[in-house]
Amino acid sequence: MTEFAGRLRLGVNIDHVATVRNARGGAYPDPVRAAKLAEAAGADGITAHLREDRRHILDADIDGLMEALTVPLNFEMAATDEMQAIALRHKPHAVCIVPEKREEKTTEGGLEVAREENKLAHFIAPLREAGCRVSIFIAADRAQIEAAHRIGAEVIELHTGAYCDYHAEGRFDERDAELDRLREMSTFAHGLGLEVHAGHGLTYDTVAPIAAFPEVRELNIGHFLMGEAMFRGLEPAIKEMRDIMDKARA
Ligand code: PXP
Repeated sequence: MTEFAGRLRLGVNIDHVATVRNARGGAYPDPVRAAKLAEAAGADGITAHLREDRRHILDADIDGLMEALTVPLNFEMAATDEMQAIALRHKPHAVCIVPEKREEKTTEGGLEVAREENKLAHFIAPLREAGCRVSIFIAADRAQIEAAHRIGAEVIELHTGAYCDYHAEGRFDERDAELDRLREMSTFAHGLGLEVHAGHGLTYDTVAPIAAFPEVRELNIGHFLMGEAMFRGLEPAIKEMRDIMDKARA
């Protein structure tokens, strides 16, 4: 059995508060206010993805988050020069490198690290020198994990989107196979000395098996929580997620 890796952290992704705001333009609802509420409800960190097309989070939101937060900001970004410059200006606690395509609705797959090793090693070096914890968002794939380790990433975030999609579509054999892959690859990555995070598409129905992996230190959850918050408010929505995570961990 892998050594217990400590309390599981919950990072709340506030991108979709900005999605709703941007549907009308203007200032409401404010993602920084949502982040402060999430913090008060027990979030251990806030995640925000500044996409190249600025479809949700805007540059000013990152300024606001850096100023307002007392918990760490996990700044998600594509591996571009523009985003690197923004990250180096703000020096957030963590930078998570994600693949990005303009035509996608959300981050569809993990980053291709193995084929881009040299480029990514050079890309993340200044971020690490600036003191950011660099995380790489990847599929549960051994070659990608090994490559993330070789380029000097301290953290990997495993993409749970396929597992959640299979669950939602009732494809339970495929879901369980993906869950096995995620479990095996968390153990493998932890064995290499990487800190393991996971996220994408997680809901009250899908979070427990992932939260139970002892090697996983942090889950990043956004879209489902923001949807729940519309019906129940952000605080109860987050507290229930926290509760399910803690019970699964125990
Ligand atoms: N982790 C990463 C790296 C992501 O890109 C996203 C989506 O922005 C999430 C976690 C959160 O996914 P969701 O909004 O589906 O919970």
